[in-house]
Amino acid sequence: MKEKLSLNLKHTAGFVSMEEILALAHQSVRHLDALNSGSGAGSDFLGWLSLPDDIAPQLDRIEKTAKHLRSVSGTTVVIGIGGSYLGSRAVIEALSHSFRQQGKDKQHDIIFAGQNICEDYLADLLDVLDGREYSIVVISKSGTTTEPAIAFRIIRDHLEKKAGKARAADRIIAITDEKKGALRTMAETNGYETFVIPDNIGGRYSVLSPVGLLPIALAGFNIRALVNGAKTMELLTRNNRNADTNPALLYAAARNLLLKEGKNIEIMVNFTPKLHYMTEWWKQLYGESEGKEGKGIYPSSADLTTDLHSLGQYIQEGQRNLFETIISVRNPSRKLEIPTAKDDSDQLNYLAGKRLSEVNYNAELGTTLAHSDGKVPIITFSIPELNEQYLGEMIYLFELACAVSGYILDVNPFDQPGVEAYKTNMFALLNKPGYEEAAKKIRTRI
Ligand code: PA5
Repeated sequence: MKEKLSLNLKHTAGFVSMEEILALAHQSVRHLDALNSGSGAGSDFLGWLSLPDDIAPQLDRIEKTAKHLRSVSGTTVVIGIGGSYLGSRAVIEALSHSFRQQGKDKQHDIIFAGQNICEDYLADLLDVLDGREYSIVVISKSGTTTEPAIAFRIIRDHLEKKAGKARAADRIIAITDEKKGALRTMAETNGYETFVIPDNIGGRYSVLSPVGLLPIALAGFNIRALVNGAKTMELLTRNNRNADTNPALLYAAARNLLLKEGKNIEIMVNFTPKLHYMTEWWKQLYGESEGKEGKGIYPSSADLTTDLHSLGQYIQEGQRNLFETIISVRNPSRKLEIPTAKDDSDQLNYLAGKRLSEVNYNAELGTTLAHSDGKVPIITFSIPELNEQYLGEMIYLFELACAVSGYILDVNPFDQPGVEAYKTNMFALLNKPGYEEAAKKIRTRI
């Protein structure tokens, strides 16, 4: 039988029963129905539900654009923040050689920018770009977000000085709204090729649109297999009203029941550094979708076994208000065995001949049992290996489960009103025109 993505809820027992999970999952079918009929909160933002089919006509152009940029440059700077960058980074990091530019078959290098306002980061990046032929993919749905806008101004200026305006324009791709925003205007004025982020797809649900797919194709990965994985999961979940076999409903139900038991922190953990950014993407998806109106589960993450030597102590014995969701990858893509040492001076010969994946898997099982003994409920998703198909499945599964979970919590999982608060203060402090009154008020508080 073909191996599959699977969900194991065994280690939630003792906190919530399987009967309770199934009961809430069955009740939550109505949330699936609300998503499918567009009758729930935020129904203007449901374009992601059918992206696995809807994106098909654009795949050729995405691949063609990626091919062009790869032929004229060895590096692309992908500029974006939040949902405009985390999805592509998650997939690229999961599939790339761990030391990307040192890898045997050197891939087209992808560098991310615009996800911070750190002067050192951008100045250091310009040092790197000085010596490279590079392209830019700038992504912003609103076309006005400050962090990517600043990075784009600086890097575009660098590229235009280096390559000339016309050659730079040939190497800049803008992914933005069809009509509105400063980035749309700039793209039209300067003749950049563009891709559209549809109105009905919010940033954090956009990884299967050109937002995620163009950078992933540029990095050399198979976007058709990724989309196919998402389609596989769509078929398994979106119209599956039999909750017992619907992992999105079961996961959404389990985590909400755990919240009711006082477990208001979910730690997503991995046992491979390649999944670090998948957990970052997941945190953004769930944090922005659920954390509002004083509600939500705080999404956190840990990279294991690394963090067993830091956060592990807290997880084992700190406040008992957390649960863990493990992403388990059963097979690595490489093979490495622990060699025998004649003198066994490091006393590791009991591991000689074993693959690292076996040691890692036993670390995972040992951690599951230890944390479970420490009263931490554990949900485990297993995938056979890290490839485009399974990543596509995980992406669709987590998106759908997030939307259902938001509806269980009775919040709109597609807005993010709270993100504006820091921006208003920052604009006032920086004397942005239009913020004069806010500036007067805020200065008295500093
Ligand atoms: O998920 C979201 O909607 C946000 O995280 C956005 O992606 C993020 O704020 C970037 O916005 P924009 O693409 O408009 O620059």
